[in-house]
Amino acid sequence: MTIGIDQIAFDTPAFYVDLRELAAARDIAPDKFTIGIGQDQQAVAPSSQDIVTLGAAAASRLQLDPKRLGLIALGTESGVDASKAATLYLQRLLGLGPWVRAVELKEACYGGTAALMMARDYVAAHPDRQALVIAADIARYGLATSGEVTQGAGAVAMVVSIAPRLLALADDSVHYAEDIQDFWRPVYTDQALARGKYSTEQYLRFFDLVWRRYQAISGRTIADFKALLFHLPYTKMGLKALRQVLPEATAAQQAELTAAFETSARYSRRVGNLYTGSLYLSLLSLLDGAANLQAGDRLGLFSYGSGAVGEFFSATLVPGFEAQLTAAANLARLDARRRLSVAEYEAVFADKVPYGPAAYQANPAWFAGRFLLIGVQNQERQYQALTE
Ligand code: HMG
Repeated sequence: MTIGIDQIAFDTPAFYVDLRELAAARDIAPDKFTIGIGQDQQAVAPSSQDIVTLGAAAASRLQLDPKRLGLIALGTESGVDASKAATLYLQRLLGLGPWVRAVELKEACYGGTAALMMARDYVAAHPDRQALVIAADIARYGLATSGEVTQGAGAVAMVVSIAPRLLALADDSVHYAEDIQDFWRPVYTDQALARGKYSTEQYLRFFDLVWRRYQAISGRTIADFKALLFHLPYTKMGLKALRQVLPEATAAQQAELTAAFETSARYSRRVGNLYTGSLYLSLLSLLDGAANLQAGDRLGLFSYGSGAVGEFFSATLVPGFEAQLTAAANLARLDARRRLSVAEYEAVFADKVPYGPAAYQANPAWFAGRFLLIGVQNQERQYQALTE
């Protein structure tokens, strides 16, 4: 029985800031951001956008079968409630039926992969069902911090089923977990704390561990892969991981893997860190942009969530996968975003839902998108779905 990703879609806020402008405002050489970090633009989420609205917008682009949908699994580390799963708001906004299992999963940026693997196992146990997987996040480190250039926002949604029309997931995951303190976010703040350089070293160490073990268990080598995809907190991070294993490939394959990586990084360069969704945005970017992919090609995926968990697994393209892609619409969505000045970005960044019981009204001037967080009343979030 083949199980995998049948459909994939993404959403990101309607606003962005240009990172060369941000570098200038911070008195930093722009090449540090665009070359050293490998980011060109960064999504900016107004307070009317959160993981619920972004996740709902991404999922609304999928064709769900209400009779088959049995699981909604949301991976996030920007949760809006310490108790209630954001999946339930999403379920209502999307008009999904009640006979589902609806949960939220957390392990930093690994949460999206945890949701995907949960969905794969669910479908293996219930082959007549499909699962909706959503990875949604808003990455915030704070103005003028060293992490600022690695912020971002958005969501990726996927349908997992048997006989997938896009990607077949292999049952070959290798996962590794270890308690380390490289990045975390205490419950009283919406801004992450990071030991920046240490986190990059741990990312590379975890990749080395799972990649070596994957090869030992599966018997596969780098020669078996058409592309290697990475969690992209910023695109240079993935490039460093790729370079770690490139010497194992022939010169011709090194060029092919490097070109595939650049294609996979195109969307992330314009959106920034999606945390749980980043690996899947790089998958979408590769599928949308690589003209030389064929059915049967094997892709390797490395997921990393600080704290930390790393996982490497593979997936193969299935015949007819091209029909499931919407590259032109995805690019159009990125191109249609409004560019903010640094001053506007800073104002939007500062206007946020309070971490406290006070009522809050989101500024209608920044309303954009099909789903909106209107505000918070009596400590309850008020969402609205607009008709298209
Ligand atoms: P930093 O100290 O500002 O930057 O922090 P740097 O001094 O390390 O420089 C970055 C790169 O720019 C270096 O290249 C410089 O040489 C280069 P590298 O040596 O790395 O190849 N550079 C230039 N290049 C061209 N022209 C120039 C120039 N100047 C310098 N003029 C850091 C960077 C990423 C650490 C910081 O932004 C940060 O702390 N970010 C947040 C943490 C993070 O993203 N960690 C990634 C690994 S952990 C992870 O992926 C998990 C995560 O997604 C969270 C989760 O799981 O939930 C973060």
